[in-house]
Amino acid sequence: SAEEQQQWFDFALDIAKRAGLVIKDGFEKTKTIEMKDNPRDLVTDTDKAVEALVIGEISKTFPDHKFIGEESTAAGAKCELTDSPTWIIDPVDGTMNFVHSFPYTCISLAVWCEQQPCVAVVHNPILDLTYTARKDHGAFLNGKKLSVSLKDDLSQSLVMTELWCRPDPAKMAVATANAMKVIKKCHGPRCMGSAALNMCHVAQGAAEVYYEIGIHAWDTAAASLIVREAGGVVMDMTGGPYDLMNRRVLCAANLKLAQQMVELLEVYDEDRD
Ligand code: IPD
Repeated sequence: SAEEQQQWFDFALDIAKRAGLVIKDGFEKTKTIEMKDNPRDLVTDTDKAVEALVIGEISKTFPDHKFIGEESTAAGAKCELTDSPTWIIDPVDGTMNFVHSFPYTCISLAVWCEQQPCVAVVHNPILDLTYTARKDHGAFLNGKKLSVSLKDDLSQSLVMTELWCRPDPAKMAVATANAMKVIKKCHGPRCMGSAALNMCHVAQGAAEVYYEIGIHAWDTAAASLIVREAGGVVMDMTGGPYDLMNRRVLCAANLKLAQQMVELLEVYDEDRD
């Protein structure tokens, strides 16, 4: 119900701000870094502390809600989306940036219900940027309504992607070949290091396109709603529907741009979340 959605939203915003203080504190200190699957997949004490804080607080208030969290999944929890209200959490998106004190990092928090996103918060506590959205109620940055860029020609567009590549030669070949094609056709390419913030930049009209192979559900769960509520499109890189678990995403200010990207991009199948 609308009342429930508002309650979840208020809670999400409050806990994201509290988590932001933990991230900001960690950002200014020496980081304790561990490697996950490969040398570019990192986790810090802050990622773990933030996820524990967020899940702990949410389960006190909403004991029957479910969770999908980056660090819980890394620790062996099942990554499963049912019809029940599910909080999808990336405690620190842009962990590599966080580790290097590059201030493009955030917490991403979404509530999905009946397999649809209904509440989203992406909060960068270092630069004090808070992106929010509720289903059918628009998207906002620090309370100001967002709308996507009006450009619809790739040659006039900023295109964001990440060349953060798992050291899998087949995947790297596809990602770099795609990037070379895009570089030739777009106005400018950007690789900033946080999938969630990249999507929010499409929502705010600062970039026209973002795509990536290899992302996870927690990277896009919140920002996909923010992009759509700002008037943009979110889909699979094949042009098919956006699938939270399929490890690929394409966001664009409009369908015309998305179609130009679909024609250009080759896809690569990762194992699903
Ligand atoms: C990563 C970042 C990065 C993207 C990766 C993500 P994490 O998230 O968003 O920009 O290239 O695909 O997994 O690990 O920092 O939460």
